[in-house]
Amino acid sequence: MSLIRLESETDFEGWRRAARALRAAGVPPDRVVWKVGDGAELFAEDLPVPPVDAPVFATPRAFVELAQDLVLHRDGERFDLLYRLLRRLEDEPNLLKIVTDYEVAKALAMKKAVGKAAYQMKQYVRFRKVEDGDEPAYVAWIEPAHRVAAKAAPFFVERFANMRWSILTPDACAHWDGEGLAFTPGLPREHAPGPDVLEDLWRSYFSSTFNPARLKVKAMTSQMPKRLWRNLPEAAVIPRLIEQAAARAETMVQTPHTEPQRRLPRRERVEAPVSVPGDSVVPASVEEVWPAVQACRRCDLWRNATQGVAGKGPATARLMFVGEQPGDQEDLAGEPFVGPAGQLFDRALAEAGLPRTETYVTNAVKHFKFEPRGKRRLHRKPDGGEIKACRWWLEHERKLVKPRLIVALGATAGQSVLGRPVSVMKERGSPVPLEDGSTAFLTVHPSYMLRLPEQSDRDRAYGMFVEDLRAAWSLVA
Ligand code: URA
Repeated sequence: MSLIRLESETDFEGWRRAARALRAAGVPPDRVVWKVGDGAELFAEDLPVPPVDAPVFATPRAFVELAQDLVLHRDGERFDLLYRLLRRLEDEPNLLKIVTDYEVAKALAMKKAVGKAAYQMKQYVRFRKVEDGDEPAYVAWIEPAHRVAAKAAPFFVERFANMRWSILTPDACAHWDGEGLAFTPGLPREHAPGPDVLEDLWRSYFSSTFNPARLKVKAMTSQMPKRLWRNLPEAAVIPRLIEQAAARAETMVQTPHTEPQRRLPRRERVEAPVSVPGDSVVPASVEEVWPAVQACRRCDLWRNATQGVAGKGPATARLMFVGEQPGDQEDLAGEPFVGPAGQLFDRALAEAGLPRTETYVTNAVKHFKFEPRGKRRLHRKPDGGEIKACRWWLEHERKLVKPRLIVALGATAGQSVLGRPVSVMKERGSPVPLEDGSTAFLTVHPSYMLRLPEQSDRDRAYGMFVEDLRAAWSLVA
């Protein structure tokens, strides 16, 4: 009997090396026992190297791909099954096409289960922000059905290339520092970061996108496996949503503005998709804006953004700032003005004696518009249609906050606030009365200063910006 020791539960290379040597030596599958970790006698690398004149057997590519997935399955027989299939392939080259064969069918079902586990991991990972030095880091905990951490990790690298993150699982942990992907051994659940404010946001988001009229408890729970529920903040609201479904469906029938967009007459949908009010949940409070924005489909910008970025600040703010759109860092953090432009903005506010915490800061457009350039995402200006589509959100934020003064930072913000194209340099600093009784005040966008090539120009522009902020504050302070 050959007792083969593999280095880890997912040691594909070890299995492959041992399987080659065992096959060359003609060892039948029922004379091999595969073990992971301690207790086995023979390491895969200790097996004799096949003689040079051993018959060459080309392993089909399809089998190698199958084997790479199967080693990730939790079935304790997976290494044995693979070796059996490998030996049978010598005499039955078309074996993998015989789906009625017991061993082939079992292998294909296992491959499918591994694929599903990887898919679910991509869907259900929820990052939490943790404090780690100067830069924010994001950590997620998940218990995948199979050992798919390494298989799913490249997806997260692509999706969150600019973020520092770790995905912890009981089997393996994946870490990305912005440049390289590394793996460490699995961890118990206690190492996952505890509940924080992001969880409440997720819960509200999940409730806002949930359509009670289409409640299918079975589908809902099978789409989100119970095993994964406990790691998901939104899972906490599922029982309540199911309970309240009938009442909420009734309210939807009575409230025409929540009619789904597909019920609108065809002409109206094609000609004016952005002016259809029924396709977004109307936020009833400032706290509800963020989750409602996550479900926004008023234009296409949501498709590539990490998340929608709603305004931030107290509902009682007398002054509202409107920027253009979230940048790269705002898109990751989910908050407006936290990146380089935000830092300059904070400095200028402090110099003007204007406390940001007493203002409501938002953007004309709620999703980051960018062009990928290697690992970077380059800012692209929103177009007229996107500004118009997103104005709906700004109008709701204005209704909820009722600021006395709205300071538009730059031309995009000005266009959204005033409802017409503006010339910042001609119109800056002059208060403009608005229909709702508030006043608009136009100034430059902080990133305008960052883009000026000469330091002397930057200093002058910054001084004028601080003056504008002081003047704006004096109108409401
Ligand atoms: N620029 C903006 O206009 N808004 C932000 O939130 C960040 C940068």
